[in-house]
Amino acid sequence: MSDSRSPAVTYASYLKLDELLSLQQPRSEGPEHDEMLFIVIHQIYELWFKELLHEFDRVRGLLEGDEPHRAQHALKRILTILKVMVGQIDVLETMTPLEFLSFRSRLEAASGFQSDQFRQIEFVLGRKSDEALHRFAQGSRARTALERRLHEPTLWDAFVRYLVREGYLVPPDRDLEQTLVDVYRNDPKNAELCERLVDLDEGIQEWRYRHVKMVERTIGARSGTGGSAGAAYLRTTISEPLFSALWKIRSQL
Ligand code: HEM
Repeated sequence: MSDSRSPAVTYASYLKLDELLSLQQPRSEGPEHDEMLFIVIHQIYELWFKELLHEFDRVRGLLEGDEPHRAQHALKRILTILKVMVGQIDVLETMTPLEFLSFRSRLEAASGFQSDQFRQIEFVLGRKSDEALHRFAQGSRARTALERRLHEPTLWDAFVRYLVREGYLVPPDRDLEQTLVDVYRNDPKNAELCERLVDLDEGIQEWRYRHVKMVERTIGARSGTGGSAGAAYLRTTISEPLFSALWKIRSQL
């Protein structure tokens, strides 16, 4: 039964559809047909980034609460979302270089490079950077969120502390390789958790790889609207692992 003082909830009111559907506003004259796709897909990614951050917070909380099975379950959701995010690049790749160039200048200096939620994801996953933080205006939503994440424990911090509570010795220099080899050899439950973290790392690298390929086929060697060298810059980011210890131990197993 709905409250007599407020109107009944509907599909449109619950999802704030009127607001949501008014947020796609092409800047090109005409407007150019493909700008709608460009806006929609970026907005979809920002929503996925939001959901991923929500889930990363959950995984971290579950590890802090010593609930590895539930943490794995939440990680499975994250990995499924990442697959969808990688797959969605196919949609944007139906846009040809000329179609993109028809409205590219209207982006001015705007670029995915300025996505604070993407940087928040990097921070949660351990790639924190003061430089990334300082690109956002003091007091802005983005800056406040990044400042909070800069000081928060990362997913990896939570995982290491969980291992300590599971009885593992973690050396002060945090060279965890020997500990992780031990986990893989003797502790199937936690080895599974490690494998999900490797999946996550590989999933993020996969997104970066597909993004750079999309950039190469759409703008070639042009520089980015965000001011970087474009694909040349992006290629430097694709094969840096997030959880390097988990990759290093592969040759010792
Ligand atoms: C035609 C499609 C696209 C092109 C040509 C493109 C191009 C670029 C370029 C050149 C950069 C380097 C920074 C710069 O100088 O601008 C960049 C960075 C980035 N783009 Fe895209 N992009 C496209 C689509 C997308 C989509 C759909 C997303 C989803 C949100 C996205 C997210 C990002 C992010 C997060 C970065 C920062 C990466 C990093 O610094 O590691 N891009 N993009």
